[in-house]
Amino acid sequence: MSSLFPTYAKWEVEAEKGQGTYLFDQNGKQYIDFVQGIAVSNLGHCHPKVTEVVKSQLDTLWHSSNLFQIEKQEEVAKVLVENSVADCAFFCNSGAEANEAAIKLARKATGKHKIITLQNSFHGRTFATMSATGQEKIHTGFGPLVSSFVYAPLNDIEALKELIDDDVAAIMVEVVQGEGGVRVMEQSYANELTQLTQQHQILLIIDEVQTGIGRTALAFAYQHFGLSPDIITLAKGLGNGFPVGAMLGKAHLKPYFQAGSHGSTFGGNPLAMTAAKAVLEEIFDEDFYNEIKEKANDLKASLQKELANFSIIKEVRGLGFLIGVECTKPIDKILRKTREKGLLVLPAGPNVIRLLPPLNVTYEQMNEAVHILADSIKEVYETSSVSL
Ligand SMILES: Cc1ncc(COP(=O)(O)O)c(C=O)c1O
Repeated sequence: MSSLFPTYAKWEVEAEKGQGTYLFDQNGKQYIDFVQGIAVSNLGHCHPKVTEVVKSQLDTLWHSSNLFQIEKQEEVAKVLVENSVADCAFFCNSGAEANEAAIKLARKATGKHKIITLQNSFHGRTFATMSATGQEKIHTGFGPLVSSFVYAPLNDIEALKELIDDDVAAIMVEVVQGEGGVRVMEQSYANELTQLTQQHQILLIIDEVQTGIGRTALAFAYQHFGLSPDIITLAKGLGNGFPVGAMLGKAHLKPYFQAGSHGSTFGGNPLAMTAAKAVLEEIFDEDFYNEIKEKANDLKASLQKELANFSIIKEVRGLGFLIGVECTKPIDKILRKTREKGLLVLPAGPNVIRLLPPLNVTYEQMNEAVHILADSIKEVYETSSVSL
C-alpha cells in the first residue's frame, strides 16, 4: 500500500536511470524517452556538462539565502535578458511559482485586478495559478477560486475583446498550449493581441514554462510570433531536471517588486543557478536552434507520412519539439502499447499524443520512435485508410 497521496495516475514503469534520450527501468529495460520529465530535460537525462558543474557546486555551496549576493544569479539573469525582450529576472522553484509572481506583479504594477487567460490553458496548481488555468476539471472541489480570472477561447480575438474593460491588468497566454492539447496560436491572433494590449495598456504575460528554453527551436516560443511580452515565465527546461523557475519582466515593472514585495527562500540558490547557467550555455545558440528546427520538421514530416493511413489520426501539429498527434479515439491504450515496445510519450488531453524529445535527439532515435508509435497504433486500433 502506497504512503503517497495518489495525485498522479502513475504508469507501471519505475524510472531508475537516465542517459541522454534513454530512460531505464528497474529491470534494466531501455526506453526512448520522448517525455523527458514533461519537457524538463531538454538536453537529455544526466547531461554530462550540467552534471559535472552541479557535482562540483555540491562540494562548494548548496544554499546561502537571497539576503546574500549570488553572482551566478546575476549571470543567469543576464543571459536570460540578453536573449529576450525582458530586462530583469526573479528566480523561484517551479512554473506555478513563476506564474504566481507574474500575477502578483501585474496586479501591483497596474493597480488593477482582472486577468484574462485562455480556455484549455494550464498555468499551475497553486491557488492563483489554478484559478488562472482555463480548465474546469482543475478547479473542481476547490472553490471559491481567486477572483478576477476570465477565460477566452484561443484564436478568437472577438471573444477576447468582449472581456476587455477598465479593470484588466493583464492577458496571460501560452503561445502553444502544452497540457491543453498542443494547440498553437495563430499569427493573426498574435498580431491582434499586440495591438489590443498596446491600445488598452494591458500587460502581456507569456507563460513559457513548457515552451521556453529551446523547446520550439528558439530561446522562447513568443519569438516565432513577433510578440513583445511585458512578463515571461519559465521553469521546466531551465534546470534540465534541477528544480528552478524564473519570471522575467521589462524594466518598467522593476519598481513594483522591491525588497519585501515578493520572495522565495530557495529561489535562485547556487545549485539551481549552476544548473541553469550550464543549460543556457548549451541551448542558447543560433546553430543549435537551426539543428532543432531541422530535426523537428523531419520528425513531424515522418509522423505525417507514417501515420497517414491510420483512420484514427486527425492531425499532426506543434511547434519545434512540442508535437501533438490528435486522434479521433482515446489514446490510453496506445501509450501503454508504446511503453511495452520501449517508447515513452505523453497524453495532452484524452485524444492527443504529445511528443517531447530531448533537443539533441538523433535522427535514428526519432526514426525508431516513429516506427514504434506506428506499430502501436496499428496493434491497438485495427487500421483502415484515411489520409491526413
Ligand atoms: C504552461 C505551463 N505553465 C505552468 C506549469 C506549472 O509548472 P510546475 O508544475 O513547475 O508548477 C506547467 C506545467 O506543466 C505548464 O505546462
